[in-house]
Amino acid sequence: MVTVIVGAQWGDEGKGKIVDALAEQTDIVARYQGGANAGHTLVCDGRTIVLHLIPSGILHEDVQCVIGNGVVLDPVALHQEIAMLEQLGITVRGRLFISHKAHVIMPYHKLLDRAREQQQGIGTTGRGIGPAYIDKYSRVGIRVVDLLDRHVLEEKLRTNLAEKNALLEKLYHTEQLDVEAIVAEYLEFDRSIDEFVTDTTMLLHNAIQEGKHIVAEGAQGALLDVDHGTYPFVTSSNPTSGGACTGLGIPPTAIRRIVGVAKAYSTRVGNGPFPTELHDDRGTQLRSLGAEYGSTTGRPRRCGWLDLVALRYSVIVNGITEIALTKMDVLSSFDTLPVCVGYRLGTKRLKTFPVDVPTLDAVEPEYIELKGWQCPLYDAPAFEDLPPQAQRFVALIEEYCNVPVTLISTGAERHQLVQRT
Ligand code: IMP
Repeated sequence: MVTVIVGAQWGDEGKGKIVDALAEQTDIVARYQGGANAGHTLVCDGRTIVLHLIPSGILHEDVQCVIGNGVVLDPVALHQEIAMLEQLGITVRGRLFISHKAHVIMPYHKLLDRAREQQQGIGTTGRGIGPAYIDKYSRVGIRVVDLLDRHVLEEKLRTNLAEKNALLEKLYHTEQLDVEAIVAEYLEFDRSIDEFVTDTTMLLHNAIQEGKHIVAEGAQGALLDVDHGTYPFVTSSNPTSGGACTGLGIPPTAIRRIVGVAKAYSTRVGNGPFPTELHDDRGTQLRSLGAEYGSTTGRPRRCGWLDLVALRYSVIVNGITEIALTKMDVLSSFDTLPVCVGYRLGTKRLKTFPVDVPTLDAVEPEYIELKGWQCPLYDAPAFEDLPPQAQRFVALIEEYCNVPVTLISTGAERHQLVQRT
């Protein structure tokens, strides 16, 4: 059976910690979209580990990890990550499986991403994600399987580079790339990843048949989804739960549980609408208490209050069956906690999350002010041990979104997690 873990906001919800917690009862953790734009930060035994591509399950020795066909694979990031994990004494070989069908990020994708960013102002991570997905859908992308044949790779690269170099030179007036150097680099890459590449669709199919437990791990968040997010201020893939089916080749009928990971407040990196954003000291306080700086780019994250209109929308588009609430401890020092429960547009009260950016930019959030708990949370072993104000905060989310909150993270360490059954 498959459990999907999705980011329910704008990414950076702390999915890595939740995947890590569920990995204890899991056989396989499979990543289904995005690339090295993601950054999953895990703290175990006082060590902070940041993973960009390899699923968080890799920290559990008996869990297998899959990078699915929906991911765009950056060889440079992959190598760095494997080396980092091996240095920490974590076995990667024999446990990591990469789909033949995953598309490969090329140096020109990163150059084009940065060049286009100057015109578009999305605030991308510059990791080449958008251009790699453009090539995938234009049917000119280079997949992991293409690396297996030198001639196929060379031919595809030459065709691609002719177009990309023209774009880089004529349109973006930037550096051009050398075909021979790229062919040599990617053939070398092929040799080094050969042992990891396999038919992950069949691997997952067989695991489902055998009754194994698979966690499908999403990157980014639902509001950054290319179809359902705040377009065009989105990433170029489908972080929503449907992406798990196409990005791994698993049927919707295999999915039993969809865990939406939501932070107890909101953050966003990059540009785009953010109704509950704070531009005052409280925003700065959230950023510093929550260490809200991008784990991939180091950029300061924009911070604001919890937005239940956005979260309820996310519950709907993902089919979330339960919420994992993270970073609740970050709110511990606030005396009042505004929670957004509605949007007002002029004299109108909007019932649903707007479909366009100008409307989202124009809405005024309506808040309920809850009392803060103003004491540390990290020693609470059970939900009932949380301060009553914290329990009320959780209850409001459940009432508004109509799904249970089953996991509550009260600190960065693995054991700082309240589990409700
Ligand atoms: P891209 O995915 O690099 O193309 O960036 C598109 C948008 O998604 C930008 O606003 C990024 O800041 C945002 N983004 C991409 N990856 C992440 C992530 O892992 N967490 C949060 N935001 C992200």
